[in-house]
Amino acid sequence: MAKRVCPFWVGYLLIHPIRKLLENPYKLFGNFVSEGMVVLEPGSGMGYFTIPLAHLVGPSGKVIAIDIEPKMIAVLEKRALKAGMINRIERRLCRPDRLNVENLRESVDLAVVIHMLHETPDQEKFLEEIRQALKKGGRLLIKEPKGHVSKRDFENSVALARRHGFNPDGLQFNSEGHKVLLKKR
Ligand SMILES: C[S@@+](CC[C@H](N)C(=O)[O-])C[C@H]1O[C@@H](n2cnc3c(N)ncnc32)[C@H](O)[C@@H]1O
Repeated sequence: MAKRVCPFWVGYLLIHPIRKLLENPYKLFGNFVSEGMVVLEPGSGMGYFTIPLAHLVGPSGKVIAIDIEPKMIAVLEKRALKAGMINRIERRLCRPDRLNVENLRESVDLAVVIHMLHETPDQEKFLEEIRQALKKGGRLLIKEPKGHVSKRDFENSVALARRHGFNPDGLQFNSEGHKVLLKKR
């Protein structure tokens, strides 16, 4: 069944500075993103999380931002240039059913999948592509919006990830709040 995908114009709402009060990227990533890391961010949109991630990984790290919508990537590029972060952010376009990460095999430290897993047409295939891109022991952060995704659907997604090569990441495993940190087995 076709999934409802975030319309382009919603991207502008998602980069509004007021969002920091509800979802502060530095609080979200502060504990497990550090200098030099390679971070994969599918469904980056206009880069609300991408630019803070680029700050956190520093000049020796890299963020690979991927989206199906060229207009989202175009705005992300402008914002990254303005923030002086363009050299740390690789931009890629993908198709809904193919993430375009084949050449990343086992090179990624962390994948952040924020407010987009429910938009993918085949979660199992999507999670497998991410698993292949991650290093052994690499981490996967999944966060979903409570407004669009029921507790049951979120738990089903987490269960799917656990059946397909991911373990809970110790104390950081907490599926409350539609947010979970997993580790590649
Ligand atoms: C609700 S927005 C969230 C954007 C960003 N993660 C944030 O929280 O600000 C979802 C984004 O995922 C993208 N998207 C949807 N399906 C996708 C897919 N199968 N692969 C990659 N990106 C996708 C949409 O184009 C959109 O930019």
